Amino acid sequence: MKAHGLAVAVALAAGATVPAFAAAPDVARGEQIYVRCMACHALATDRVGPRHCGLFGRRAGSIPGYPYSDAMKNSRIVWNEKTLDRFLANPPATVSGTTMTYAGIEDPRERADLIAYLRQAGEGPACGH
Ligand code: HEC
Repeated sequence: MKAHGLAVAVALAAGATVPAFAAAPDVARGEQIYVRCMACHALATDRVGPRHCGLFGRRAGSIPGYPYSDAMKNSRIVWNEKTLDRFLANPPATVSGTTMTYAGIEDPRERADLIAYLRQAGEGPACGH
């Protein structure tokens, strides 16, 4: 038991020295993280939240007919890796007044995996491509 605990400690210490973005984003892991978003979102249909198909390059708050908050509509954000990373880390702080009541994803690696999934899925078969 003691040896096992030590091995874990060594592995954690070694892991901590690896820069957060040393590895390429893991799309499969991103798909698993997306399950959290599916409480409110779907790729191809508007639900509680707007659809995510075609998200990259889209202006925030621009799906016709979806009832966005004024905060989102007026945010002047264009969705890409950088803006999504900032928004998903802390939605209410990034777009003050957003109706997306989700605390965010703290782990930068989880965000990177999720964003890679969003990019791929948003331009994939589920979105009619
Ligand atoms: C509790 C419900 C809920 C959850 C969970 C949720 N969202 Fe949202 N999301 C919303 C709502 C509502 C909006 C519209 C916000 C507004 O208009 O201010 C939104 C808006 C967005 C937008 C802006 C889209 C656009 O068309 O401009 C993005 C991007 C987004 N969500 C991504 C995510 C991701 C990724 C997750 C999972 C990590 C997630 N959301 C989890 C409810 C949710």
